[in-house]
Amino acid sequence: MFEHQSCLQHLLTPFHYTDMGHYQQELADVFRTSWQFACTRQEIASDGDFMTLELCGEPVLLKNFDGQLRAFLNVCPHRHCMLTNEPAGNASGLFCQYHGWEFKQDGCTGKIPEAKAFRPWDRDNSQLTSLALEVCGDLVFVCLEPDATPSLREWLTPFYDDLEFAFRAPLWRMAEVWDFDCECNWKIPTENTLESYHVATVHPKWLGDQLPNERMSEHQLNDRYTTLRYDCDSPMEEKQARIGRYLGGEVDHSYRHWHIHPNIAFCLTDTFNYLATCQPTSPTTCRVRTRMFALHGSKKNPYARLLRYLAWRVGRRTMRAVFNEDRAIFDAQQKGIQSSPHRGVIGTREERIHIFQRFLCNRMNLEVTPHPDNIRAKEEFQDPCHPSRDLLQSGRQS
Ligand code: FES
Ligand SMILES: [Fe+2]
Repeated sequence: MFEHQSCLQHLLTPFHYTDMGHYQQELADVFRTSWQFACTRQEIASDGDFMTLELCGEPVLLKNFDGQLRAFLNVCPHRHCMLTNEPAGNASGLFCQYHGWEFKQDGCTGKIPEAKAFRPWDRDNSQLTSLALEVCGDLVFVCLEPDATPSLREWLTPFYDDLEFAFRAPLWRMAEVWDFDCECNWKIPTENTLESYHVATVHPKWLGDQLPNERMSEHQLNDRYTTLRYDCDSPMEEKQARIGRYLGGEVDHSYRHWHIHPNIAFCLTDTFNYLATCQPTSPTTCRVRTRMFALHGSKKNPYARLLRYLAWRVGRRTMRAVFNEDRAIFDAQQKGIQSSPHRGVIGTREERIHIFQRFLCNRMNLEVTPHPDNIRAKEEFQDPCHPSRDLLQSGRQS
């Protein structure tokens, strides 16, 4: 059952999905002080492996130094060049592509061409900027402002132990890396994953043409996260559960979706798990990054191998098809939002979106204009989990 029985206020306005100043404030207030998913251990598994990516609008480089994983700002202290533009690769050392400065695991310089030209040596100003890196299972996270952020374990609480189990070889193996760019604000794909209201219209072929049953849906709403647990009952899901049991997985007969604010979602099923994170790249663009883990189990016989393969194929095909259908909506929603005269409205099935928006409003101290319907609705129900709801619902005129 859903927690709310009346419609909820769409707290954010089209401005929050389009404005450059607001976008920059989000990066500063929300993203830099949260753990961001960077990659899996498998993607930089060998000594010398590296990869680069953009996190929170900054270029980041991750590198494996003989088994030790390190993260740096991908900016050279000499004259600010990115150390490398390559998305990934393997190199025995860490060198800047421009003048060849070498850097060690701790970010200090190694060999520098014509080093005597830099005397007296400005040691403090000549190191790479190291970034905080922590790991949960096979998932590698980076934080740009760790002093203002809880530890990764705390940040992922109460899911840390389950995530460590569900995203770690050998029982679960990383089976797919899939990243794609979208022409929309990062909140659009994020909010899409938080509601099942669109399922019957956008995904009838893959997920059925009826809305998922409310009685079988359980939401948990919290300032830091929201969850959905859906009890599975279809013949396909029953088959999935049987395969999971045979391969030695822990069968739960459910679809579990956990969203940790602001931008990472984990989905757990009986035979595959995935994470999806939405990385902002501008006010109106973002990059969705997914990693899918398939149940591997311990059985090695040919029957187990076949089941594993089939379960994986079905899971992958469904996930790709569903994401591709959502992508078409993301772009259409962004185009609409840029011309929208409306405030928007949130139904009870979409209540996780309201909680997500409230998190952003609280974190960024946004002023929220009251909505007449919600002033009325406020008197009809009590929000079960958030003390500052009244502040937002009654609003402070901007
Ligand atoms: S800018 Fe990197 S070595 Fe010169
Ligand atoms: Fe969808």
